[in-house]
Amino acid sequence: MGECILEVKNITKVFPEAVALSDVSMQFRGGEVHALLGENGAGKSTLIKILCGAYLPTEGQIFMEGQELPKLNVKKAQALGIVAIHQELNLIPGLTVAENVFLGKEKIGVLGMVDKRYTIRKTKELFERFKIDLDPTAVVSNLSVAQQQIVEIGKALQMESKVVILDEPTDVLTDKETVVLFDIIRELKAAGKALIYISHRLDELPEICDTFSVLRDGHYMGSGNIGDCTKADIIRLMIGRDLSEQYPYVPGKPGDVVLNIHDVKRKNFGDKVQLEARSGEVLGLYGLVGSGRTELMKCILGIEKPESGEFILNGSHFEAKSVSKAHKAGIYYLTEDRKKEGIVTNTPVDFNMTLPSLQEIQNGFILSNKKEQKLCSSMVKQLSVKTPSLKYEIQQLSGGNQQKVLIAKALITKPKLLILDEPTRGIDVGTKRDIYQIINELKASGVAVIVISSELPEIMGISDRIVVFHDGVITGEFAHNEATEEAITLCAFGTKKESVAV
Ligand SMILES: Nc1ncnc2c1ncn2[C@@H]1O[C@H](COP(=O)(O)OP(=O)(O)OP(=O)(O)O)[C@@H](O)[C@H]1O
Ligand SMILES: [Mg+2]
Repeated sequence: MGECILEVKNITKVFPEAVALSDVSMQFRGGEVHALLGENGAGKSTLIKILCGAYLPTEGQIFMEGQELPKLNVKKAQALGIVAIHQELNLIPGLTVAENVFLGKEKIGVLGMVDKRYTIRKTKELFERFKIDLDPTAVVSNLSVAQQQIVEIGKALQMESKVVILDEPTDVLTDKETVVLFDIIRELKAAGKALIYISHRLDELPEICDTFSVLRDGHYMGSGNIGDCTKADIIRLMIGRDLSEQYPYVPGKPGDVVLNIHDVKRKNFGDKVQLEARSGEVLGLYGLVGSGRTELMKCILGIEKPESGEFILNGSHFEAKSVSKAHKAGIYYLTEDRKKEGIVTNTPVDFNMTLPSLQEIQNGFILSNKKEQKLCSSMVKQLSVKTPSLKYEIQQLSGGNQQKVLIAKALITKPKLLILDEPTRGIDVGTKRDIYQIINELKASGVAVIVISSELPEIMGISDRIVVFHDGVITGEFAHNEATEEAITLCAFGTKKESVAV
């Protein structure tokens, strides 16, 4: 076991409306990956922000290699080698990958200009060393969320570090990128650094973490070696009870075709796609990132225009033209990109929830505040959203709770066709199960549900029918009972189902 590099003692953090941490003590050692676990809103990110100097604790002390660090701020923390990759990405979209990686560390050339070639060369070297496959000259706004996360990681690698903190790094990564990340983590660990790792994907912990600590409602619940515990032990510590069957699957009763995606082909991508979503059924769309699932959904909403083919909604030709038209027609799409397209910052929780459903709560011409509040309160309860009130500004909720507000927003529109793009990203195990239950109820009430997810167990666990995409074409379709992890993975990599022995 390595030396203790970073220690927190009796840390308490009080926000005006919430106590985020109460009397938390923990130690982080060199050469060790320490998982920091807990439900949404347990206080994980708050502790991380205290460690990197973004928040001052209300009470308590921080020690680095035995030295107390009073009044830690971001600059000091960085100078000491505490480097963090936060849950919400902090890149400058208009700059290139290399410019973001070396932001604030640019080399100034003889004419007083930033030496761009130097930055690009250095970024290339860094990426090569860590086997990161990304073009340093690409503009960040053109990258996928997953690629942006990799840039964020690159930024952290470029700094001299002793402690590296990763707040839900795999949340947006594909399996392939996760492999790269884990290699990087192993290398940092071998170099003796202390790593703190936050994730809601409990299955990945044994692969990458050595020890863990659990927070519940801001309180320290315990620590241990990952190898000495089962997943059930850890869940019990996190949520205070046992969690039965993670996927409470009930077979759907497929009814009429709600949406027929008829021979739709996107511009310069893939081939004609023929697909039907039926009422009372969960249709799971699986594929690697870049396989075209999200973009196909955006064609339905009118955000993208297909090159050919048509959509048939309840038997009639349908063209959305705009997202609000799609809503009116009973189609709702929950975005995968919470920060960019999802939440409206600086506005309260209830506003975010009811934004697309103003008609639902409208009473004559006046918005019924009472109706709105009732609707929102019941959603908060149903999805166990942790918020002090409905008037709380959404960006002050924890990451997972922001996602829950977006799910509530989708449910409030009472859609006939609900498209959920990576719905459980960043959501804790207990609430994930609640969401699967809600999906079951929706399909039982006749809603057609389409789920896009990069988590194969999730897609297999909740879908009645699974359609696999590769490079914009469908390579296989599986009934719930017929699906195997192996067959779906092969299809996702481009093998046609007919050639896969199921
Ligand atoms: N800037 C802030 N102002 C007010 N309250 C905050 C602020 N940041 C966090 N909180 C509150 O502190 C509590 C802990 O939040 P935190 O973000 O640390 O949770 P978390 O464990 O990281 O959850 P998640 O898994 O959802 O990311 C929450 O109740 C949250 O609303
Ligand atoms: Mg968090």
